[in-house]
Order: sequence, then C-alpha cells, then structure tokens
Amino acid sequence: MKKEIKQNQTTANVSYGEAVDLVRSFLERRYQENIPLAYVHTYGCQQNVSDGEKIKGMLAEMGYGFTDDVRNANLILLNTCAVRENAEDRVLGAIGAMKHQRMRDDELVLCVCGCMVQQPHIAEKIRKSYPYVDLLFGPHVLNKLPEMLYAVLAEKRHIQNISETGEGVAEGLPVRRDQAFKAWLPIMSGCNNFCSYCIVPYVRGREKSRKSADILAEFRSLVDDGYKEITLLGQNVNSYGKGLEEDINFAKLLRMLNAVPGDFRIRFMSSHPKDATLELIDTIAACDKVCKHFHLPVQCGSDRILKLMNRGYTVADYMKLVQYAKEKIPDISFTSDIIVGFPGETEEDFEGTLQLLKEVQFDSLFSFIYSKRIGTKAASMEDPTSQEEKSERFNRLIALEKEIGAARYRNFVGKTYRILVDGPGRSGPAYYSGRNDGYMIVDYNGKPEDIGKFVTVKVTKSLNWALLGERVPDK
Ligand code: SAH
Ligand code: SF4
Ligand code: F3S
Repeated sequence: MKKEIKQNQTTANVSYGEAVDLVRSFLERRYQENIPLAYVHTYGCQQNVSDGEKIKGMLAEMGYGFTDDVRNANLILLNTCAVRENAEDRVLGAIGAMKHQRMRDDELVLCVCGCMVQQPHIAEKIRKSYPYVDLLFGPHVLNKLPEMLYAVLAEKRHIQNISETGEGVAEGLPVRRDQAFKAWLPIMSGCNNFCSYCIVPYVRGREKSRKSADILAEFRSLVDDGYKEITLLGQNVNSYGKGLEEDINFAKLLRMLNAVPGDFRIRFMSSHPKDATLELIDTIAACDKVCKHFHLPVQCGSDRILKLMNRGYTVADYMKLVQYAKEKIPDISFTSDIIVGFPGETEEDFEGTLQLLKEVQFDSLFSFIYSKRIGTKAASMEDPTSQEEKSERFNRLIALEKEIGAARYRNFVGKTYRILVDGPGRSGPAYYSGRNDGYMIVDYNGKPEDIGKFVTVKVTKSLNWALLGERVPDK
C-alpha cells in the first residue's frame, strides 16, 4: 500500500522519558490539583487490547486518570481495528458522535489510533471529514505517544503519524493491565502470510519476534505478580522465532515458559495451521501448564477456496493435525475461525465447511461473513453471491455449530474441572463463571472472593453455550 500522506513530525524531538515529563508538567499546570481523565476504547483483537494496555500505561505515567464516561473525559482515545467493514463503521460513527463535545471544549484532545488509521485512505478520510480529530497514529509508533501528545497539547497542533518503523513490539513501555489475574503477552508482531482477504499484514507490517529473554522476563514478573493465566499473542505464533539470532521456535518457547515455577496456565493465539507442527502438539501434550485447547483457524472446508485464500494447507493437512492432536491429547478442545461467503464460494464449497465442522467437532467458533478490504487480493476477485445468500449460509453454519457444541457439551456432564473464575455468571444471581482448560465457560454456585482464583467444579448440567456445575473440594 502506498503512503501518500506526508508524515507530520513533532518538533519536540525528545526522548520517551523527556516527553513523558513534558506532558506531565503541562497537565499539572493546566489542571492544577484536578487529575485529567482519559477515556480509552479499544476495538479488535487481543493484540490491540494489549496495545491499549500499553497506551493506558503511558497515559497513567503522564498523569492521566481514567473514566468510563466519555462525557467526563479530557482526552478521548479510540484504538481501532480494520479487519472487517463493520468494525470500521462503528469507529467512524463514534468519531462523528464526538464532534459536538470536541467543538465545545477547546482543551479536549481526541485521538484515533490503531490498525484502521494505518490505511492511507482512512487516514485521509478522517483528515478531510473529521478535521477535529487532534491526533492520528498507527500501531508502529505507539512509543511516540508522549511526544505527539505534547505537540498537540502545548503547540495546539494536529498530528498524524502512520509511518511504518518495522521495530516490532515496543519494549519497555509501561502496561496498565485490564485484569489482575489474566494477562496478554505479545511474543511477536506483524504477519507475513498475506491471506488474500486479510488487511492485517498491510497495517501491522512484517512479522517480528521478540527475544525469548525479554518474553521470559515479562512472563516471570507476571507470575510473581500473581497472574494465573497468561496468553501468548501473535498473528501466527507458530512462526515465532524466525529471524531471531537465537535457536528457538514456538514449541521451545512454550517449554521454557512451562518450566517457570508457579500455579498458572498458559494459553496462546493464533496458530496458523500451515505452520503448526507435530512437535508443537507433542509439546502441548507434555507441558502441564499449557492449556489443552487449540485455537486453530481453518477459515473454510474447501480446498479450492483455501487456495484462493492463500492459506497454504488443504482440508486433509488440517485433518491430519486434528487427528494427531486428538490421539496425543484425548481431551483436547478445538476452536476455530470461519469465513463464510469468500468471493466465488459455491454451495458445494460451503457444504465442505459444514462437513469439516462435523468431522472436527469444534467446541466453539468465531464465524464471520467475508468483508471486502481495500488493497487486498480478494478485493478484486469476482464475488457473484448475494449478501442474502451469504447470510443464509452464515445462519446454517451457526445452527450446525450450536448443534455440535450442545452434543459435545452433554458429554461433559459428570466431569470435574479446574476453572479460573472470571466474575458473575449469566445463569442466575448466585452463579459465578470461569473457563476450564479447554476454554469452555463453566457457571457454578460461587462467591465474589472466588474471582481470580482456581476452583474445582463438578459439571451437573450442559447448556448450548456453557456448562453448569457445583463447586467441590480441590483435589
Ligand atoms: N492471524 C489470525 C487471525 C487474525 S484476524 C489467524 O490467521 O488465525 C481474525 C479472523 O478474522 C481471521 O481468522 C478471519 O477468520 C477473520 N477475518 C480476517 N479478515 C477477514 C475479512 N476480510 N472478512 C471476514 N473475516 C475476516
Ligand atoms: Fe490475516 Fe492470514 Fe495473517 Fe491471520 S495469518 S493475520 S488471517 S494474513
Ligand atoms: Fe483488527 Fe488490527 Fe487486530 S486489524 S484484528 S486490531 S491486528
């Protein structure tokens, strides 16, 4: 994608720490004894949520407090996603809705960042149609936030920075985590796969792995701080380690982290089937702290469409992995991502997807109707299928998913699981809820003190979307 927009450089040209100090003293002068409040909203995937936690870490360091009520905010920041059109529409709607508030309050700062604005046509659109946005920046320049914010605050400038630095995950930034017992830990950034429908490689740049020593240090400090579940993040964690000088791959990294002492569990996402190895499956089987849950996005069950999607595997390759994993880890849980209505998908292709669902028996799915993304290869493919037909296929997919999930969930009645409690459950006022190793929701008769702890629950009943159970003594 070409960069047509001139990058707006800040005049400050200072280090990260100096910029933080400049903003902090500016805010102290402007707000005196009052603490300025930031409203931060993140859209999209866990990688973006993780970026949002760094943004909040930086804002806290600069002296901001936080509010969930946008009307009380002195700074509004929308951290956006570009993966599907409806994600973008929601953001543009939100920016539009903030116009009056921004126009009324000259001291309010409105920032829009993340994947969506990294697309030059969107950056241009915001600049033209929403000129009251003060600061626009992409995911490559997170660590420049203090410097850019200072230019906005002190020099009253409008800043736009969507340069691609290629630096990967910014090291050493403060993180303000949303939860005290579950943490996101990015192990890499970017994507090299260029699936033909996907915008991510264009907005997040090329794959770059973090050094294992940096990951291990962050992981250890999370465990020391009492985190009970750490999810390793990457667009394709299975290609972790490529390009690093050290001799490492994802399986080795998992073994290294699994060896850290403590009572916690490790999750990871996403895994690309083309790079999932039998060594990885053996590693999941061998590592007691790695959850027996494999989120392995298949996208569809037709070889013809998989080829057009540029996914790099066939249905048979995928099934080989699934079968090997089921043999090695009998209680493994599979989840997946599915795209319905890729350009040129026929009824026969779609039936292949339904057939695949029946064979694998996924516990749950993240399913999407194909969304055309400007600049991707699939955007120029013939797409004769109507939206109605795509919706109809989508509904059939969801109905089958529910049927398979409900049948599978019935088999779990009578089993005992260790779950990490997230909060109140949806099954009734006395219920609390958590997830088991296999990522299934388990509701049980709990207490507020259970939140953030592991408890043992015996399943007494299955619903379509969850298991119901009773707490039993820990083993
Ligand atoms: N890197 C991850 C996925 C990131 S995007 C992986 O490859 O597994 C999350 C999911 O969004 C994808 O798995 C895909 O199912 C869906 N997705 C991506 N682009 C899409 C598009 N243009 N339309 C519909 N769904 C899309
Ligand atoms: Fe997108 Fe494919 Fe990369 Fe996943 S692997 S982020 S679907 S290009
Ligand atoms: Fe969206 Fe960017 Fe994630 S496009 S899915 S927020 S990497």
